[in-house]
Amino acid sequence: MVKASAPGKCILFGEHAVVYGQPALACSIDQRMTIEIESEKTFNAWRVDGRTMDAKKHLHIEYIRTRLPPHDGQPMHIRIRGTIPKASGLGSSAALSVALCGALQQIRDEAIDPVQASVLSHLAEAEAQGGRASPMDTATSSLGGFVVLSDAIEEGLDYIETRTMDVNGETRQWHLHTFSAQIPEGVALVVGNTGVRGSTSAMVDQVARLIETNPKRKVELETIGAIARRGIQSLQEGDMEAVGRALTENHIVLRSLGVSSPELERLIRAAAPSSLGVKMTGAGGGGCMIALTRNPEQTVGAIEMEGGRAFISEFKAEGLKVEDAN
Ligand code: PMV
Repeated sequence: MVKASAPGKCILFGEHAVVYGQPALACSIDQRMTIEIESEKTFNAWRVDGRTMDAKKHLHIEYIRTRLPPHDGQPMHIRIRGTIPKASGLGSSAALSVALCGALQQIRDEAIDPVQASVLSHLAEAEAQGGRASPMDTATSSLGGFVVLSDAIEEGLDYIETRTMDVNGETRQWHLHTFSAQIPEGVALVVGNTGVRGSTSAMVDQVARLIETNPKRKVELETIGAIARRGIQSLQEGDMEAVGRALTENHIVLRSLGVSSPELERLIRAAAPSSLGVKMTGAGGGGCMIALTRNPEQTVGAIEMEGGRAFISEFKAEGLKVEDAN
């Protein structure tokens, strides 16, 4: 039996604006997906959590298992475990794909290869989502730490690679970067989940319509880009007060774009007094919010008092890794 795990992610800066070429920053979180696999001897078919695998239901798994097949062609039994809530913008499907790559690499007697996992999982996400997938979730989950995605190569960051993908006859290109952040002891992220599922495509369409009917509002997307660059610089300098301010400012612009929700606003209001900065994270319309805080327990309590589910994440959650199979 082999076992691998990969973290979820949250977006610190730049959601929505990134669709229009602005930089966005994601970071890995402590919540992870774990994949265990072993040869399936009893039934001569691939199985997932005790049932015969349905390739139409498990699109990511199907894509990856056919590209990283075990050398002996033996069917496998895949067990999925994890603490990342589904469909909440925290990258659970990306983490599942990345962890599966790590487990299959081990079955094939190969060294764990986060770069291969990042590329294959991105392709699996694109396949599962009908072409539309940015490499943000899968790169952050594979590599861990901070990942900046942009249409341009950003100065002052460590360039990783350029990813190109053909989407319905159109070539899309993303530049991936990382950087080292100075996070002082005692500063954590708190993620609060509204429990309401937001639809990423509906929220992206809503912003597209807003820009179409009122092109002047593109300025707000540029503002988010400027806030993101400033936030990244403050992370590099270790100025957590400035990072917190940038998070809150980013939220105010997202709210004015209409992608927040009453549930998100309630959790954000509750978390703000004990935090350095607060914002929604991901597409919005529900989903999750984040708080940068020196008082994580207090912030969690405040969010839970308002009916949200909250958890604490330290920074620097490791990317794809082997787990002890015993
Ligand atoms: O819902 P999430 O966390 O996958 O975030 C979507 C981010 C958007 O910028 C809104 C869309 C995108 O494709 O980048």
